[in-house]
Amino acid sequence: MTQTHSIADKAASYSLDRKHNAEQNHTIETVTFHITWECSHNCSFCYCKSSELSDKIAQDSSYGKAPTFEQLAEIIDAMRDVQTILFVGGDPGAYPNIIRLAKHAKKAGKTIGILSNTLTLPDAKDFDKDIKVFDFVSVTFHADNAKEHDAICGKKGAFANSVKKLKQVSDAGIDVSVTYNIRPGVESKLVPLLEYLQKAGIDVKAAEIQRISQKGGATCGRTNDNVDLDKTCEEFKAVENMGVELIMCDKFPPCALPEEHQQYAGACDFGYTNGTVDMHGNLGRCGCETDYLLGNILEKDIQELWNSAPQLADWRNKKHLDKVCRRCPDLNDCGGACCLTRPGEYSPDILRPGLGTLRRRYFGR
Ligand SMILES: C[S@@+](CC[C@H](N)C(=O)[O-])C[C@H]1O[C@@H](n2cnc3c(N)ncnc32)[C@H](O)[C@@H]1O
Ligand code: SF4
Ligand code: SF4
Ligand code: SF4
Repeated sequence: MTQTHSIADKAASYSLDRKHNAEQNHTIETVTFHITWECSHNCSFCYCKSSELSDKIAQDSSYGKAPTFEQLAEIIDAMRDVQTILFVGGDPGAYPNIIRLAKHAKKAGKTIGILSNTLTLPDAKDFDKDIKVFDFVSVTFHADNAKEHDAICGKKGAFANSVKKLKQVSDAGIDVSVTYNIRPGVESKLVPLLEYLQKAGIDVKAAEIQRISQKGGATCGRTNDNVDLDKTCEEFKAVENMGVELIMCDKFPPCALPEEHQQYAGACDFGYTNGTVDMHGNLGRCGCETDYLLGNILEKDIQELWNSAPQLADWRNKKHLDKVCRRCPDLNDCGGACCLTRPGEYSPDILRPGLGTLRRRYFGR
């Protein structure tokens, strides 16, 4: 079946009001597919640079090796009833068979996107033509200027390369989005970035908002808890006023935002309709986790795994949350928001305010 796709469809899928419970069956519809761990950049907070991942690669060197086309194609074939695949990594744009693989996924009727930092596409014979295999293309920007962006990636010329490649993608008529991680200090740089890209002739359809989880080199103080939320939400409004779709991939907890900004609050969709698969077929819940505990889709049907993995039942039952969140009136709309923002696994969102504030907010005392 041919899928239609637009970035607006994707935004709608994020905002559907789902019942976050364990009783009903859930279909995994969107897969973030990690096809390689290799990347020429060196972002300090990247989960690909986590000690868990390097330990795993040290124990089993085959885990770190780039898989063959046949291995990855077999995994795509096992993604029964999955509608959308987002190729990520590492850098999926530098994977040797990326175009061949994307064509394979397309032939299987999937809607496909790529999130790459280089968009080098080694097996593209003609970039402008071959890029059209993707329904949407996204690039992560860390700031609105080359100096800051390149410093974060540890790669001189990275910003200029991304702008150049995105212009080619946009000229080819493909939906372009910008992926942006909210960190302290960059709250007001998204609008200037989008204006810069528009001036460069790039038709940016959407800004996909992510938050940093405590993986890789990420630590609380540098990533989440010092974010200026008022500034961030004002920036979001300004983005929407520009006519650019705002896609909240990682939402904020309702209790952290004032009434006028509640549209940016919500629950994490991973574990319900969205999941992640690695280059060996291992299934996981969130793209930032590299432990893939749910089983292997080459050994058991993906949809069966999705509804039988005990870790997912626990997650949907909110077993990872403490009693403050479990008794919260907003629990169903929030689910504890991002459970990876604190060090350790599965905790309530780091932006949840203290008990006094919560009491005043919910019980007026
Ligand atoms: C790991 S990268 C892979 C694709 C590509 N290399 C890129 O940078 O866009 C995917 C996304 O995850 C983000 N990311 C990296 N480390 C993260 C972390 N610890 N928490 C949340 N997002 C993270 C990156 O900034 C990027 O937007
Ligand atoms: S965030 Fe992306 S570009 Fe940066 S090191 Fe990780 S994989 Fe590479
Ligand atoms: S469930 Fe927890 S994090 Fe979510 S709004 Fe309630 S108190 Fe805040
Ligand atoms: S736990 Fe959910 S909100 Fe947090 S990074 Fe993962 S997908 Fe995003």
